[in-house]
Amino acid sequence: MTEAAHPPVPTFVHHRSRLTEGQQHAWDRWWPERGRDVGDILSGAEPYDPPAWFGRRAPLVLEIGSGMGESTAAMAAAAPDVDHIAVEVYEPGLAQLLMRLADTGVTNVALLRGDAVALLRERVPPASLGGIRIFFPDPWPKRRHRKRRLVQRDFVALAASRLEPGGFLHLATDWDDYATQMRAVCDAEPALVNTGAGEAGGWTPRPDWRPVTKFEQRARIEGRTVRDLMYRTRHADAPRDDGT
Ligand SMILES: C[S@@+](CC[C@H](N)C(=O)[O-])C[C@H]1O[C@@H](n2cnc3c(N)ncnc32)[C@H](O)[C@@H]1O
Repeated sequence: MTEAAHPPVPTFVHHRSRLTEGQQHAWDRWWPERGRDVGDILSGAEPYDPPAWFGRRAPLVLEIGSGMGESTAAMAAAAPDVDHIAVEVYEPGLAQLLMRLADTGVTNVALLRGDAVALLRERVPPASLGGIRIFFPDPWPKRRHRKRRLVQRDFVALAASRLEPGGFLHLATDWDDYATQMRAVCDAEPALVNTGAGEAGGWTPRPDWRPVTKFEQRARIEGRTVRDLMYRTRHADAPRDDGT
């Protein structure tokens, strides 16, 4: 069956949520300048054009599900030479990120509202991203919802194809079985290498720079272990483990 006849299940549920007064203010002030709709990019009404958005050509890191933007704002401030694309469907989160960016004067973030999977598949050119970050993707813990999980075999192949040689895929989750699933599908992707393979259990140490978001905080309170995974795409000329 073709993809068009059988579109993949969305990885999110779109809740229509009201913006707070501060978020609405930030939205009205900054969204026209810094925000774009994935729908417009998919329809062709708006080009996918990071050099035009940022006014320069710099390494690009795309974050899927930036939530309330804590990590995005911190990472962008810490890496001013890197341009960051935050893709999120949850408007109050995007508005909160706009507030953070305005407060801190950080300019190297573009915000996209909509489905990051469709964007990656249809508009992000192959081998064009220096990195992809996915922190605490929705865990969809019920068995019948597992198909909604973002990090699955086809998605990982798509993500790897959009990374430059040597580009990274950084994942974090606090759900044991999702962490195991991430490991399995990423280890099985021939284009990726686990850079934490030499670490305890093959997990990458939690980076100090990542702020503790409400999702990570809840995991700690409820006693779940947070696991990070870091993969890199093989350099075209690097030998593969199997010698090919
Ligand atoms: C559990 S939250 C984690 C947010 C943030 N990364 C953090 O660590 O606090 C997952 C977020 O991913 C977003 N999301 C899920 N699927 C998405 C998709 N396909 N495209 C864009 N955002 C998505 C959801 O709206 C939600 O805000």
